[in-house]
Amino acid sequence: MAKIWAFNWKMNPQSFGEAKRLLTYNLQPTTNNKNVEVIICPPFVYLEKLIASAFAKGYGGLRFASQDVFWENKGAYTGEISPIMLKNLGVEYVIIGHSERRKHLAETDEMINKKVLAALKAGLKVILCVGEENRELGIMNKKLVIRKAKSYVKKQLEKDLPPQILKKNLGGLIVAYEPVWAIGTGLADTSEDAAEMIKYIKEFLISNFQFSNPKVLYGGSVGSKNIKDFVQYNEINGFLVGSASLKPLEIGKIIMAINHDK
Ligand code: PGA
Repeated sequence: MAKIWAFNWKMNPQSFGEAKRLLTYNLQPTTNNKNVEVIICPPFVYLEKLIASAFAKGYGGLRFASQDVFWENKGAYTGEISPIMLKNLGVEYVIIGHSERRKHLAETDEMINKKVLAALKAGLKVILCVGEENRELGIMNKKLVIRKAKSYVKKQLEKDLPPQILKKNLGGLIVAYEPVWAIGTGLADTSEDAAEMIKYIKEFLISNFQFSNPKVLYGGSVGSKNIKDFVQYNEINGFLVGSASLKPLEIGKIIMAINHDK
């Protein structure tokens, strides 16, 4: 089944030359597999030139995302980037509510809700990040731990998703389940638990927002060592990949691991 690969470069790399090189490495999942959708999420400053460069090289299927967006389209908001600006630049997706922004920039659910609505209204597709902070493994029994994680994520979805999207614009919203404790730690969730969480998120989107075919990604320490476990779950529509996206060899190994099983 075709999967989405969203490569979140975060605040990397430090020059456009490196960004251009990274772009070609991130294209590896599309080799011999036209069904794969690759979304590159570079820092704002590289977006315009990377889109032009991808276009010039004929990478037609490649998509681009910004890592954030503001909720107003114009005005006196120093330092902010508006949804319309991104749309006019040829950007198709935007990541909203990444846990690093929630934590380091005190981004609240209220802000995230406004961003989701503004981005969808501008015609951007949204990758909304949700995920519990802590699994407290070893403290409680597993069923209780997962139940707590579900209830945490449910509250986030209730606050982050604007009611206006009910029955509207549904194809434009993807959720990324990213347990905070798994991000950048090398301690990925188990594929089984991630699939259970994702199934739960999909059920929530279907019953509360009448989505017909919700897409949910997994993110958090995805790499060559665990990718085989994750890809076998049909519930998981793809991956939001952070640190591995910056390592060309690691991306190659991920692809090899997947292809090996075909
Ligand atoms: P990671 O990051 O792959 O480095 O854990 C994922 C993310 O933050 O989206």
